[in-house]
Amino acid sequence: MATQSGITISAPNAPHLITNDIPVPSLASKKALVKSLYTSINPVEPFMSHTGVLIESYPAVLGSDATGVVLSTSPDCTKLHVGDYVYGCVPIGLSAYSPFQETFLVDERWIFKKADRIGLEESSTIGAGVLTAGHLVLFGLEITLPAPGTSPGAKDEWIVVMGGSGSVGQYVSQIARIAGYEVLASSSKAKAERALSSGATATFDNRASEADQLAAIKDITGGRFRRVVDASAQAAELSLKALEMSTQGGTKYFATVDDSSPMEATPSVTIHRVQLGLLGRVGEPEGRKVTAQTAEMIEKFEPYLETGELTALDYELAEGQGWQAIIDALGGFEAGKFAKKVVVKVQDE
Ligand SMILES: NC(=O)c1ccc[n+]([C@@H]2O[C@H](COP(=O)([O-])OP(=O)(O)OC[C@H]3O[C@@H](n4cnc5c(N)ncnc54)[C@H](OP(=O)(O)O)[C@@H]3O)[C@@H](O)[C@H]2O)c1
Repeated sequence: MATQSGITISAPNAPHLITNDIPVPSLASKKALVKSLYTSINPVEPFMSHTGVLIESYPAVLGSDATGVVLSTSPDCTKLHVGDYVYGCVPIGLSAYSPFQETFLVDERWIFKKADRIGLEESSTIGAGVLTAGHLVLFGLEITLPAPGTSPGAKDEWIVVMGGSGSVGQYVSQIARIAGYEVLASSSKAKAERALSSGATATFDNRASEADQLAAIKDITGGRFRRVVDASAQAAELSLKALEMSTQGGTKYFATVDDSSPMEATPSVTIHRVQLGLLGRVGEPEGRKVTAQTAEMIEKFEPYLETGELTALDYELAEGQGWQAIIDALGGFEAGKFAKKVVVKVQDE
């Protein structure tokens, strides 16, 4: 069995280990083998390494956002060819698909093919954010996007985004603006500019008291909203209270990245909880659904990314490259060292 280098963990909370004995994955239908070039760090990496949740088996290779170059393809691949650059969020917790190793598998239906206008480094900031946001907006809020390059016309309606300064929240704002909505985003005061530059029309302070946040939502929107996204996983209660102030008729929608905390259902609000971690789990019904929805979104979003209507996140490049640089970046991420999304160079091409 051919082996390669990379980083593994052997159990929840075990240290990251640099090793040379990771099996090189074998091709299967619709799969391509990709050389890992860049990765960016998401909250799911520390979550998985500490809890073991989503990890299929040990020793486990981690990573979620990836950029790479295609080395070989299975005969039934039609989208991907050798030499293509790809990027996106991999099926999380499935080692063969994970980017913290020399090569990993991608399924050509679940990965973005890089357009020339997108830089290699920055491409690794897009996948998890845009796909999670897409699940929130398209399937959670039941919003349809106009054709790329066309205007849907401005809507006299707001979408409220809790966590509009985060990776997911910034893409929620970008997508909501494409659909013609006004966006009101919550953020810390320090990151309000980031939320505004991603498309939010206005912001409010996510550390203010609940009463003050609700008052700000009411003042700014005049109650003209019936869709709230929690992209922070911190604001379910606030979101549902905000929806009670909506002056809009019809169904109200709450979509959240929080897929585990207990949440009270209310008769007038449709609640959608995103589970991007089920991408690629095609052996289970919910995994098949999430995977099919993700494939649909990738086809839908590729043209917006090609034209620049959807753009990569502002990021910083971590020092160094390779396995130790990834381990250092994971530690720095947990210590709150990075002010922006952090990208790590994995290998030279
Ligand atoms: N369910 C899924 O499938 C799925 C998929 C992807 C991500 N997620 C989860 O979604 C969350 C966001 O991910 P991300 O990558 O966007 O993370 P991120 O870039 O770190 O963004 C976190 C956001 O939460 C806000 N926030 C942090 N603490 C807060 C608090 N106490 N009150 C209100 N807002 C607060 C931050 O605002 P400030 O920094 O401005 O305060 C920021 O806007 C994470 O919990 C992640 O695990 C879930």
